Amino acid sequence: MSANEFAVVVLAAGKGTRLKSALAKVLHRAGGRPLVEHVVRAANALKNKRVYVIVGHQADAVRDVIEPLGAKGVVQEPQNGTGHALLVARRQIPARVKYAVVVPGDAPLIRTETLQALMRAHIKGEAAATILSAMLGDPAGYGRIVRRADGRVRAIVEEKALGDEQRGINEVNSSIYCFTLAKLWPCLAKVRPENVHKEIYLTDAIALLDQQGERVLAEVAGDAREILGCNTRAELADVDRIFRERKRAALMDAGVTIYLPETVTIDADVQIGTDTIVEPNVQLLGKTKIGANCVVRSGSVIKDSVIADGCEVRQNCLVTATRLSSGVVVGPMAHLRDGAEIRAGARVGNFVEVKKSVLDEGVKAMHLTYLGDARVGRGTNVGAGTITCNYDGVRKNPTKIGKNVFVGSGTELIAPVKVGDGAYLAAGSTITDNVPKDALAIARGRQTTKPGWAAQRRKQLRAAATPKKKSRRR
Ligand code: UD1
Ligand code: CA
Repeated sequence: MSANEFAVVVLAAGKGTRLKSALAKVLHRAGGRPLVEHVVRAANALKNKRVYVIVGHQADAVRDVIEPLGAKGVVQEPQNGTGHALLVARRQIPARVKYAVVVPGDAPLIRTETLQALMRAHIKGEAAATILSAMLGDPAGYGRIVRRADGRVRAIVEEKALGDEQRGINEVNSSIYCFTLAKLWPCLAKVRPENVHKEIYLTDAIALLDQQGERVLAEVAGDAREILGCNTRAELADVDRIFRERKRAALMDAGVTIYLPETVTIDADVQIGTDTIVEPNVQLLGKTKIGANCVVRSGSVIKDSVIADGCEVRQNCLVTATRLSSGVVVGPMAHLRDGAEIRAGARVGNFVEVKKSVLDEGVKAMHLTYLGDARVGRGTNVGAGTITCNYDGVRKNPTKIGKNVFVGSGTELIAPVKVGDGAYLAAGSTITDNVPKDALAIARGRQTTKPGWAAQRRKQLRAAATPKKKSRRR
């Protein structure tokens, strides 16, 4: 640890009672990421920091999110309040660390620049504590900042403890602070759980610092939206909306066309190349990467997929964990999933499902088909209604179809099975045995045609129906 290193403490141990959820609050998602991940990423971009995340409720799941990002989880058990959370952190923070930045895990819109500015203000102001505050039109639910005549902060008063003369204050506590630790620790040790929740409130340390003659400052956030918490589902939806707007705006700035952008959902990690067009009601999720000059048409959902330049995903496709080579056209209404790979010049049409299969260059599968665990060689035509019967009730079995094969419509391939290059499979065949190169395989019953049979049958049926009519009873 270098001499000027400081600690960032992310408060993420609480349950989030107001969400009425089985899932811990900080694991709920906004903009496609867990709330706490946004906060840790914002902290990680600071220099000379070490990030501690206070975990408690669903601690293991929270750790799984934050530890890959390099943050250290610190268990708070039981969760006796925001002040108690810092006392728990104290045991992990080396004594030589002078400053700590505190950020709640449920305020995911906070930006690195804002945290940096808060630290600068704290050091420049020679304060014991500096609070990031915000002016809110509707401050309900937040702790209020009570200032002295000289502008310094006297106290933070929680909503439930507000006096009548304090209700009009609309400067609120964001729960984002910078502390000089040598000043904070003695005061925090004196805070008692004297509130309705019987918790040790970090906010109570503020009044104690002020009473000891320490300087407590509050910096008003330039953009009040940055401090928004996600205590309720409605707040979660508001925050999610802001992330989505930010993401779409960034992509449009970078040269992506998005029509009716308010209807388009794009996750934080999605990348899109220039001159790609995204039509209304599209969702681009997870780690999806889309190249330049693509078109994603209305209603399509694409998750964790890699789409090269110049592709077109037509209306209402569901594409997950799939790779499309450049220039590929899929859909409308195709379902590509779990390791589907469609190579250049291949074409997947409507009502076609492709799972864990490779379609080589120039393959056509245009209508009503299921290809699972299959490998289809270049130039092969897969007729309408072709089905790989890949599942035998126990295992998934592979189907290998060679190059330039003609698969007639309505063919079933009972896997494991192999079809050699250049073979023909007659329409309606159920292929159970391997087919050699350049062979024709027909596997269906021969047709029998009986002239006049249908007319005769109709006559019989009518005759049988007539007398019954009279004797019909209810
Ligand atoms: C807190 C502040 C309030 C401020 C608001 C801003 C206190 C007492 N109040 O209220 O002044 O306006 O944030 O959003 O601090 N947590 C723990 N351990 C605990 C309790 C909470 O880690 O024992 C974590 C929670 O997981 C959460 C964060 O601390 O991420 C804040 O807790 P929360 O219950 O949301 O506090 P608020 O009621 O919003
Ligand atoms: Ca909160």
